[in-house]
Amino acid sequence: MARQKNNETTEAVSLITLIDKSSPVAERYRTIRTNIQFASSADQQLKTLVITSSGPGEGKSTTAANLAVVFANSGQKVLLVDADMRKPTVHKTFQLTNSNGLSNVLSTNTDVHQSIQSTVVPNLSILTSGQKSPNPSELLGSLKMDQIIRDLKGEYDFIIFDMPPVVAVTDAQIMASKADATMVVVRENVTRKDSLQKARELLAMVNANVLGAIYNGSTDESDQGYYYYGTEN
Ligand SMILES: Nc1ncnc2c1ncn2[C@@H]1O[C@H](COP(=O)(O)OP(=O)(O)OP(=O)(O)O)[C@@H](O)[C@H]1O
Ligand SMILES: [Mg+2]
Repeated sequence: MARQKNNETTEAVSLITLIDKSSPVAERYRTIRTNIQFASSADQQLKTLVITSSGPGEGKSTTAANLAVVFANSGQKVLLVDADMRKPTVHKTFQLTNSNGLSNVLSTNTDVHQSIQSTVVPNLSILTSGQKSPNPSELLGSLKMDQIIRDLKGEYDFIIFDMPPVVAVTDAQIMASKADATMVVVRENVTRKDSLQKARELLAMVNANVLGAIYNGSTDESDQGYYYYGTEN
């Protein structure tokens, strides 16, 4: 098989939570995990988490993948779903095939269990995006998606959905309305204030349970690059 220009091996080992577990950045991801766990209660158990941001390239996929690793490290049975069927990256990050994934499950009679792949990380399974679909929003908004989420919630302790930007397309809004919680990634020097405001409005419109924002790429040394930014509501 021809090797792609972007070196997939390098990408696979570039997850900080895998290559340097004791780094300050990995510790920040564990802090975010703790905050999410504390937001979960017996009354309102948080099992499904949507990761989105206002615009492109702000670190959604990086955050979703690292959070999936640290949640799996805590012994929970975790599923990371690449619900960004427009610019999918999870299969590259974890060096998996993407010939059968979420889009296939939603548009054919494929059983979701046949499409879930295990990873080198104990307790972490992945549902890749699947083959390109002409109508990702309709697939995510379908009753079949609701059924799949219900089924998977019975089998996994924690499910993370990597999404496209919320301002560009409606996919993240759709999934935020279905998920127990949503977090918004904000990237230093990339995220625009007006765009973030728009993202908040769009998520509020669907009554998303926005736990807070994750601040990515801070240049303030005392932040060590990554930190939890507190709750918004
Ligand atoms: N804090 C950071 N410091 C340096 N590079 C980063 C940081 N966060 C993300 N990146 C890099 O920026 C690029 C975009 O990150 P990522 O793919 O996680 O963003 P995204 O929000 O998922 O993008 P998209 O909107 O295309 O889905 C990647 O190459 C990633 O490695
Ligand atoms: Mg992404």
